Amino acid sequence: MATTNQAQVDGPTSPLLAPYKLGNFNLSHRVVLAPLTRQRSYRNVPQPHAILYYSQRTSNGGLLISEATGISDTAQGYPDTPGIWTKEQVEAWKPIVDAVSC
Ligand SMILES: Cc1cc2nc3c(=O)[nH]c(=O)nc-3n(C[C@H](O)[C@H](O)[C@H](O)COP(=O)(O)O)c2cc1C
Repeated sequence: MATTNQAQVDGPTSPLLAPYKLGNFNLSHRVVLAPLTRQRSYRNVPQPHAILYYSQRTSNGGLLISEATGISDTAQGYPDTPGIWTKEQVEAWKPIVDAVSC
């Protein structure tokens, strides 16, 4: 039988854990991953280890902001940052996005 605990009755005890509507996103809490430049996307292709990195930081109804992602080979700030201007890069992002989408 499902039971109700006091937090469910009273609502969250911390504002950080309260839901928030951010544009079209209905977040279930306010703990957001800030963008962090990892420089581990060798040759600008997202790597499989990013699946683990981002899935370790995901949560139901949470928001992750990824590292900055290049839109062309002439739009680079740092080496080995991920891109999204080639088919190979787009395909490499897919399992990462799948791993964090709920
Ligand atoms: C594209 C992008 C990349 C960033 N990369 C880093 C980073 O590698 N390391 C870091 O400490 N902050 C980085 N920042 C800044 C953090 O996301 C964050 O804004 C900063 O730590 C300050 O946090 P606060 O805004 O909550 O005070 C980056 C910001 C952007 C927009």
